[in-house]
Amino acid sequence: MNTLMFYCCHVLAAVCLNMGCIAQTSGNAAAGIPSLKETYKADFLIGTALNTGQINERDQRAGSLIAQQFNAATPENIMKAQLIHPEWDRYAFDLPDKLIQYGNRNGIVINGHTLIWHSQLPAFARRIQSVDSFRTFFSDHIKTVAGRYKGKVQSWDVVNEALNEDGSMRRSVFLQQLGPGFVTEAFRLAAEASPGTQLYYNDYNNEQPAKRAGCIQLIKNIQTAGVRIDGVGIQGHWHVGKVPFKNIEESILQYAALGIKVAFTELDLEVLPRNFQGADVNQRMQEGAGIDPYKDALPDSVQLQLAQDYENLFKLFIKHRDKIARVTFWGVTDGDSWLNGWPVRGRTNYPLLFDRNYQPKPAFYKVIEVGSRK
Ligand code: XIL
Repeated sequence: MNTLMFYCCHVLAAVCLNMGCIAQTSGNAAAGIPSLKETYKADFLIGTALNTGQINERDQRAGSLIAQQFNAATPENIMKAQLIHPEWDRYAFDLPDKLIQYGNRNGIVINGHTLIWHSQLPAFARRIQSVDSFRTFFSDHIKTVAGRYKGKVQSWDVVNEALNEDGSMRRSVFLQQLGPGFVTEAFRLAAEASPGTQLYYNDYNNEQPAKRAGCIQLIKNIQTAGVRIDGVGIQGHWHVGKVPFKNIEESILQYAALGIKVAFTELDLEVLPRNFQGADVNQRMQEGAGIDPYKDALPDSVQLQLAQDYENLFKLFIKHRDKIARVTFWGVTDGDSWLNGWPVRGRTNYPLLFDRNYQPKPAFYKVIEVGSRK
C-alpha cells in the first residue's frame, strides 16, 4: 500500500467513525463514503455543475454520486443565452425544465446560470444593429427566462463577468449597446420577473484587489439605485499551490460588509501548466512540449498539494460560514471538468474531488475532515 492510499483509508475510517457513513446506494460507484452535503448541512449548500448528459440522466454512476453528495446544482451550459434563447423569438426550455424536475426529485436547489453574459451569446444577438432592438432583446430575454423559472430556481447569476482585471468595465456588446447602466438594469428586470429569487453578480478573479474594487463599486451602484442584489459569486477557478487565501478572506469580509451573501460558484483547482490566471473562456493557450504532463496519473506530490489546498480553502469557508451561502464545484468528476478542454484541448486534468472512476480523492477526505471537526 503506498503512503497516499494508507492516508486515505486512515482518514476514511476516522471520518466514518465520527459521523456514520451513507448506506450502500444502488449503482453507486462510491458507496459507503461520507457525504459532502450532510457534512456541511449546517454551514452552506454544496453544489456541482451539471452537464447535459447528467441532466438527461444518461450516466448512472454520476447520478448516484450527485444525489449522495450535493444539495445544489448549476447548469454548466443549458441556461446560457445561446442554448436557452437560440433565436429572436424561440426559446429552448426542455432541458432547463428537466433540470428543475431533476432538482425537485433529488432535493437539489438550482442556481440559474446565467442571464447576461458576453460569452455563449446566440448569433442573432451579435447581429442586432439598433440600440432599441438590442434593448428589446435584453429585456425580453431577462423577463422571459427569469419569469419562467420564478419560484423554481433558488438564485440567478444575473450578470456574469462584466469586469476587466483592473476593475473597469469590460467592453462587451452590452456595454457598447446599452452603456454601464446595463448591470443595474439587468438586476431591476430580474427582480421584477422573479421576486423571490436570490440575485447574484458573478465573476472570476473578483477576489483580486483591483477587480474586487470594481466589483464593490458595481454592487454599490445597484444598491444606490434602490435595486435588489442578494449576493456576489466568486467563481474560484484557482491554481494548485497558488490559491490566493488572503485575498479570498479579505473579499469575503468586504463583500459581506455590503450586506450581501458570498457564494463560491465554480470551484476547481487547475493542476496543469498555464501561463495566465483566471477563466476568460475566450483566452486560449498554445500547445507545446510539457503542456499535458499527467496523462497517465497525477503524481503523489501534486495530489497531496491539491488535498492541502482544498483543506485550507474549506477551513476558510467554515471560519466565515455565516457569510457564505453556497460552495459549488465546477463539475462532478475530473473526467467531466471543462479544464480538460480549456485553455488547451484534450488535456488530462485533475481539478475536482472525484476522479475519473467516480472515486473520492484525498482532497475529498480532507474536505470531509474539515467539515466534521468543527
Ligand atoms: C464553461 C463550461 O464549463 C464549458 O462547458 C463551456 O464550453 C464554456 O463555459 N466561467 C463561467 C462558466 O461562468 O459558465 C464557464 O463554463 C467557465 C468560466
